[in-house]
Amino acid sequence: MARVVTELTALAAALRTLRAGWRLAPSSPTAAELEPVLQEVARRLAAEPPYGDPFYLGHMLKPPHPVARLAYALTLWLNPNNHASDAGAATSRMELEALRALARLYGWRDAAGHLCSGGTVANLEALWIARQALRARGIARPAIAASAQAHYCHARAAALLDLPFHAVPTDARGRLSLAALEALLAREPIAIVVATLGTPLNGAVDPLDALAEQCAARGLRLHADAAYGGYFPLAGNLAPDTRAALAALPRADSLVVDPHKHGLQPYGCGAILLRDPGEQRFYAHAADYAYHADEGPHLGRAALECSRPGAAAAALWATLRLLPLVPGGEFARGLEAGHRAALGLWRGLRDIPAFCAPAPPELDVVVWALRAPCASAASAAARRFHAQARAQGLHLSLARLPRTLFAEAAPVTSWDEPALIGLRACLMKPEHEAALPALLDRLAALADPHGAGQRAAAHNGGLTAVT
Ligand SMILES: Cc1ncc(COP(=O)(O)O)c(C=O)c1O
Repeated sequence: MARVVTELTALAAALRTLRAGWRLAPSSPTAAELEPVLQEVARRLAAEPPYGDPFYLGHMLKPPHPVARLAYALTLWLNPNNHASDAGAATSRMELEALRALARLYGWRDAAGHLCSGGTVANLEALWIARQALRARGIARPAIAASAQAHYCHARAAALLDLPFHAVPTDARGRLSLAALEALLAREPIAIVVATLGTPLNGAVDPLDALAEQCAARGLRLHADAAYGGYFPLAGNLAPDTRAALAALPRADSLVVDPHKHGLQPYGCGAILLRDPGEQRFYAHAADYAYHADEGPHLGRAALECSRPGAAAAALWATLRLLPLVPGGEFARGLEAGHRAALGLWRGLRDIPAFCAPAPPELDVVVWALRAPCASAASAAARRFHAQARAQGLHLSLARLPRTLFAEAAPVTSWDEPALIGLRACLMKPEHEAALPALLDRLAALADPHGAGQRAAAHNGGLTAVT
């Protein structure tokens, strides 16, 4: 509670600065009116799993940094709209500065970009710009290739843009198969390749370095969906091939990164970057009612969405101010801790006989199956395990794991179905690392209620070496 008081005290002080120049009469409802409604909201929220807790590993949820939460809340008292500078000048400038800081992460000095509501919209914009750029080169309906594990928003965007979409098979680590792409390129007139840096299923990182070579050799457009993994070039402890793929991000024509995933932002904060700022011309439109004030920046002129929250820009700007994106900095250390925790979890899972964990995590997402005679039985066991774990305060997610992930060691002897339902853990919070021994104890006990004590003791001994 002391931390909450500190945060609210800082917010109240900043609000006094913000409101110093206003002639606005305070029109707040009374405490007696507010409190019952807020209590009702709190009671509803309290029934949720504790998303910020290290025992919540289910989906890609990471609590916003306090400075992001506070800057967002502070800005709401003004509620600027970053579509035009005369609706949100200060926050439009913050947005541009924050985007510049993100672009520098990829070595892009002149790139153009903006914030949007999330990865889905950012990828739609990137594919739309790709279509317009290729149309300008005479390619009427450019076809898109993306891995079978790319986020579903790409296939949906292709449908919206009326473009052919081809899913490329993945390898045993869930990464786009270069050989399969080659085969596809030989058959189909693909013009746009989408690389995913951090797939939703297991955080797999497509081999962007090799893809960039392939695209350059064939004159294809390359889009990088780094909604999940876009901050990981900062992490110094990833495997060499993962690092090499991330290091190739500057070679993409466009790039998406979601500050609301690993960037410590509240939801509603995605980002698109275009390597060639000239491509902003494809957004060109006029509005009778806006963009006529002399002083810019009018960011709505070069974005798909019109109204966008200035509060999101202020929150991101404040976070980057406190936690600059530098290798070895606090932000980078948080990513490295999550990766270490994921590797530690993966190693620990391999010591639990009931589990079958395929390849090690490239970032911080781990998937595994329960051993069973056949795929449908493994799926049923995973569903039971998931429910039991949740009942004991351990929150995982269920995921459909394709057979290709288990090329080295299968959890089942017969594949009566082409995929099975397994378990998935997202270790996005640095706090998972300290919680790892307890997490593994809980998993071992759930997997084998009778033998867990012994194995947990042996296991914890081994864990100290797992970093
Ligand atoms: C790689 C990837 N791309 C796109 C998206 C969609 O992003 P959003 O949920 O912010 O719309 C996700 C979401 O998990 C993702 O992991």
